[in-house]
Amino acid sequence: MHPLLNIAIRAARAAGNVIVRSMEHVEHLEITTKGRNDFVSDVDRLAEQEIISVIHKAYPEHAILAEESGEEGDNETVWIIDPLDGTNNFLHGFPHFCVSIGIQVRGKIMHAVVYDPMREELFTASRGAGAQLNDRRLRVSKRKTLDKSLLATGFPFKYPEYTAAYHKTFQSLFSQVEDVRRGGSAALDFAYVAAGRVDGYWEIGLAPWDLAAGVLLVEEAGGVVTDFTGSDNYLAHGNVVVGNLPIQQAILEDLTPHLTDELKK
Ligand code: IPD
Ligand code: CA
Ligand code: CA
Repeated sequence: MHPLLNIAIRAARAAGNVIVRSMEHVEHLEITTKGRNDFVSDVDRLAEQEIISVIHKAYPEHAILAEESGEEGDNETVWIIDPLDGTNNFLHGFPHFCVSIGIQVRGKIMHAVVYDPMREELFTASRGAGAQLNDRRLRVSKRKTLDKSLLATGFPFKYPEYTAAYHKTFQSLFSQVEDVRRGGSAALDFAYVAAGRVDGYWEIGLAPWDLAAGVLLVEEAGGVVTDFTGSDNYLAHGNVVVGNLPIQQAILEDLTPHLTDELKK
């Protein structure tokens, strides 16, 4: 295993322990509002500090881009961190959330860890070396048509300006597939595509820390990720269409006519 991935796993497990321990007294946590429907607790911050301290011990010179504390350092290696993806679920005691860590080297995501501490599922990938769930190799699903597919999605609950366009994409896709899941953790949505548990996934407006690790998991499991224009510029707007190749293309084709000009960029 690559040493960087090894440290990322250690950091993710440490953060996972913080999160699971805090589950017991979740109703007493102090919660701050960052934006519309966007909350943060001490657990998010503590988990993030835990991750950063593990990284700094091993690689003091590396740069950090973390959801709660922002950017730090200037280096060709950047650790992109979401200490708790699925904060809303966590705050409601809904046990579906994870820690997400992507390691970018010279602008490319090279290693990825998504850790679900409730199920003790560790999703990992290194570029060119495949994706794993615990010790098992991951492959995206083989379903080829929307009518046989189970999709995942995310609602734009922080961005009311996208609600109308999003509803149109949902209405159109929902009428063609078996069913749609809204789990509430983008990083786990990517991981579930990589594991073949869902056949595809789409969402509007993700942040870099929601998607950095997930994109590599999906690609290394044989899947495809694009933005709404079909290119790989998803870090700029956070709009993603994900899946095995035929399903990813079918979702992209289906949602394109419903997008506003802004979302087509
Ligand atoms: C959110 C979750 C959610 C997605 C949002 C994200 P957070 O992350 O991934 O599923 O729909 O766009 O912001 O705030 O829980 O880390
Ligand atoms: Ca997130
Ligand atoms: Ca988060």
